[in-house]
Amino acid sequence: MTDFTWGVAASAFQTEGAIGVDGRGESIWDHFRSRAGDTGQVACDFYHRYRGDVRLMQELGIDAFRFSVAWPRVLPDGRGPINACGLDFYDRLVDDLLAHDIEPFVNLFHWDLPQRLQDEGGWPERATAELFAEYAAVVAARLGDRVRHWSTHNEPYCAAWLGYGLGEHAPGGTSPADAFAAAHHLLLSHGLAVSEVRRHARAAEVGIIVDSWPAHPASDDPAAAAAAWAADGLRNRWFFDALLRGTYPEDVLERHAAEAPPVRDGDLATIATPLDWFGINNYSRTLHDAEGRIVRAPYAPLTAMGWEIYPAGLREVLCRLAWEYDAPPLYVTEFGAAFDDVRVHDGRIHDVERIAFLDASIEAIEAAAVAGVDVRGAFVWSLLDNFEWYEGYAKRFGLVYVDYPTLARVPKSSFHWYRDLIAERKRRESGWQGKWYVGSVGAGKGARS
Ligand code: GCO
Repeated sequence: MTDFTWGVAASAFQTEGAIGVDGRGESIWDHFRSRAGDTGQVACDFYHRYRGDVRLMQELGIDAFRFSVAWPRVLPDGRGPINACGLDFYDRLVDDLLAHDIEPFVNLFHWDLPQRLQDEGGWPERATAELFAEYAAVVAARLGDRVRHWSTHNEPYCAAWLGYGLGEHAPGGTSPADAFAAAHHLLLSHGLAVSEVRRHARAAEVGIIVDSWPAHPASDDPAAAAAAWAADGLRNRWFFDALLRGTYPEDVLERHAAEAPPVRDGDLATIATPLDWFGINNYSRTLHDAEGRIVRAPYAPLTAMGWEIYPAGLREVLCRLAWEYDAPPLYVTEFGAAFDDVRVHDGRIHDVERIAFLDASIEAIEAAAVAGVDVRGAFVWSLLDNFEWYEGYAKRFGLVYVDYPTLARVPKSSFHWYRDLIAERKRRESGWQGKWYVGSVGAGKGARS
């Protein structure tokens, strides 16, 4: 894989902290507590400590950093007056990244909707889609001269279904009809925002980031296959079909006729606006039994999130998008794993399980590339341990351990492993003609080949 972009990914709400600082408005996540009662008030304090973290990224040797802009930091009420301090922060971050030869991949939305807009109905309301396009224009106008790669959304499935349908994420809604409306308006806002970004950032390459987990039947029972297909429809095909074909899957519309979203003429053409790239986040797969339950493979190895370790899913998703959907160039915009990291006597974190997970995942990506998939880059989730939504700070995904009481950063063994892997891949790419020492009898330590 030549010219491959090696990176790490993060999001505003999970790392910045600084809630209510420098004019930031409220987001729907500000008061949404994790299972253990954690909040994002401080998180990793990236807002104040980003320069040190950019230096860590430079030490990693990555090509790009994928981060999100907090809409309420830029437009505190979701619309109207710009908060100059908020936009200035992202301006400084972009400049610091570029000064360290790291390309910013800017993601416009990673779930932290301005609370004011939620008070007016949130993503189930079409107006939110139109306001998102205005927000996209503001950010692109400010950063578009230096930022090339843009994504509109991160995981619209999660924002819609975990937020409005299943009650697991902010704002905690449990209405399937609202979830379908939100899923539609998130996609519509994506299409509207693509045009705005391109209008303000001439060299922009715009994409979207979709979480894509293969849905497999747990047995040969036809009912299990039907359950897997239905789950695939909600999580994958609703988004793949709309974004890449301009249609919603008929089986999903039929199965959920009572909750169908309010689609207007022209919406799907807007949603399917051609993209420069397509991002996929993959962590595992889901298994579905004949009763429609999500089950685990017997004896399957699991991460600390209880997700099956299944790197083949990454290859499967990449190949499916390339061959079944003829997707534009692909990026793996998130891959990674949470494990129960422990600092031991030497003060270090020997996260060998994470190293094995990342290694197997990169093998899967390379297998897809060898099979002909145009995959352009991969971003490990995440640089730092951070606020893992409903799991709070209990789940650690970082290459860097965050000692939360002090916010000290401690690179884990996986940080050094990833650093060395990137360096080695770059040597290979550069056609490095190193001088291998070939040991030969009598020639002392070795002789030049
Ligand atoms: C997601 C989000 C991230 C998560 C990460 C680990 O994919 O859910 O993009 O915010 O923290 O994936 O769950």
